[in-house]
Amino acid sequence: MAISNQTTDKVREQVDIEEVVNDYVPLKRKGQNLWACCPFHQETTPSFSVSPAKQIYKCFGCGKAGDPIQFIMDIEGVGFTEAIRHLAKKYGIEVEEENSLDPADIQEYNEKESLYIALNYAKDFFHKNLESGEGASIGLSYFKERGFDPATIEKFELGYSLDGWDHLLNKAKGAGFEESNLLKAGLILERENKPGNFYDRFRGRVMFPIHNLSGKAIAFGARIMTQDKKQPKYINSPETVIYHKSDVLYGIYQAKQSIRQTDKCYLVEGYTDVISMHLAGVENVVASSGTSLTESQIKLIKRFTDQVTVLYDGDDAGINASLRGIDMLLEGGLNVKAVVFPPNEDPDSFARKSGKEGFRKFLEKEEKDFIHFKIDLFAKDAAEDPIKKAEAIRQVVLSISKVPDPIIRSVYAKESARLLGMEEDILLTELNRQLLKNQQKSKPSKFQKEADSSPIEALLPGSPEEENIKIQPRSFKEERELIRILINYGFEMVSEEMHVCEYLLEEIKDLNFSTPIYQELLGHYKNALRQGLLPKFDYFLKIQNTKIKQEVIDMIAPTREVSKNWETKHQIFSKRESDDLSETTYKASLKLKSAYLKRMRDELEEKIKLAKEDEIDALLTMHMELTQLKSQIDRELGNVVPSKN
Ligand code: CTP
Ligand code: MN
Repeated sequence: MAISNQTTDKVREQVDIEEVVNDYVPLKRKGQNLWACCPFHQETTPSFSVSPAKQIYKCFGCGKAGDPIQFIMDIEGVGFTEAIRHLAKKYGIEVEEENSLDPADIQEYNEKESLYIALNYAKDFFHKNLESGEGASIGLSYFKERGFDPATIEKFELGYSLDGWDHLLNKAKGAGFEESNLLKAGLILERENKPGNFYDRFRGRVMFPIHNLSGKAIAFGARIMTQDKKQPKYINSPETVIYHKSDVLYGIYQAKQSIRQTDKCYLVEGYTDVISMHLAGVENVVASSGTSLTESQIKLIKRFTDQVTVLYDGDDAGINASLRGIDMLLEGGLNVKAVVFPPNEDPDSFARKSGKEGFRKFLEKEEKDFIHFKIDLFAKDAAEDPIKKAEAIRQVVLSISKVPDPIIRSVYAKESARLLGMEEDILLTELNRQLLKNQQKSKPSKFQKEADSSPIEALLPGSPEEENIKIQPRSFKEERELIRILINYGFEMVSEEMHVCEYLLEEIKDLNFSTPIYQELLGHYKNALRQGLLPKFDYFLKIQNTKIKQEVIDMIAPTREVSKNWETKHQIFSKRESDDLSETTYKASLKLKSAYLKRMRDELEEKIKLAKEDEIDALLTMHMELTQLKSQIDRELGNVVPSKN
């Protein structure tokens, strides 16, 4: 449910960027600003700055920037409303819920809220059971036997469900919970032959609460304590209105900080793998919990990092079954690596066996990028066996074809050709064929970012920025580009006496934008100038319209750049647009003009087709003039942008 505007306003008034950021990283004053090592990427010299005067933060390393609310959204991985709640709590501001909503929304909100309360009550109950009696002698001693220390038991809020039919049920009823509520939360079950008669779902098991991003329990995994072969080893909460198995990653709450700091996420199979890795000092780890990886799980990871390392148990069967996961991660634009454990070991057993230092070293040493991993997997005896080699090539090409970024794709292609000892051309042909195939069966793109052009073109290193442009039907990408430059750099100087915005607005003053959202943003920009403001991006983040705000965030978010590693290794150097603002600005205005002229010419051509004889001459003259003007601009563009167009 929404929070009242008054509450949001109160939060905005009271929050202080310095206090908010200081909760996560210690800030040091240098001049007007405060500095820290960026909490969003790993670095040793501080490039993360906080401006108390402007109440914004910006990292000059990774480009993350925003206001205090944005900071909480980014660092906690939560949405706007959650961030407001978080800050309200910090500042002791009472949260007023918005009541003017649809009654159906309110009911849904209340229902969800009541499930959270029930599940967290159960979590506390299970946890407390470990303190004495059956819970201590069975549950706690089991955890101890597994090597879980008290701090880890606390961190994961582990617990034990007593072995009986109605321990939780009675306790919760006594505390005022309704059976219908406990049922919806998946905590109790109804007896088949006795309607209205309930019993505990979890009995005599150790309990692993599954937390959402803000640390609330939303479900449980429960492991059996006996050798009873008729009972499943693990049972889990059913799907409920607050628990969608496919959206959740076990351990994300405990891992998110570390994932961000190390800029890397390990992916394992189960609860015990996650916990044992924490014990071994590796905290950036999550589990997909039994299901094969889903798109929403990948998006969840992507909120924190672009680097994923998949950890595989040491048996081939398991690996082959989960290869699809790698391709999905690649499709999501992530950099994928893999580690394979020795035969019959999983991350849990191996972490326990090898100890902190040994485990860390093993992970470092055994990590391979997905190409090496797949080649090793399929090409074990490929040298002698041409059929096996063909399979290895097919597998590698298949994975590369999933990589959305054409530059990274072509680098991978080169690397694989070398490793497989084959001509690069042959591999590229194979890759093109696969790209075409993907395109033929491509449904609407799963990850909005990708907008591939023709497969062959897609192989050519192009501009990485252009790839990220989300083009709405019939919208002008040139208009978007212009607004993007205004928002990002409008306040900077293009020459000694002129701001970027002055230059751009002068250049386009005769043009009318045709894409409504960009027209509106342009209006906002001009409004700000009229009020005597030289707006920066934070000005636009305060706009209430979520569509506009999203667009602005997209525009100010850093574009994904080829990693430093690739740059040095393969001598690809990407020039940054901010390096030469006057060129960037000039180029953008020319491109927009060229696009407009093209549209005018297209329209004119339609007219000419339908024109009466006596009109044609005049129209043709106009056409010629437009063409001349356009080619003049395009020539100019050619001068500004070497080797393209
Ligand atoms: N798992 C599961 N459902 C099962 C079996 C396993 O969800 N029926 C998941 C659990 O998350 C578990 C992980 O897979 O943490 C590893 O499985 P396994 O090694 O069988 O479970 P452990 O509890 O580690 O059992 P053991 O002590 O026998 O290794
Ligand atoms: Mn195990």
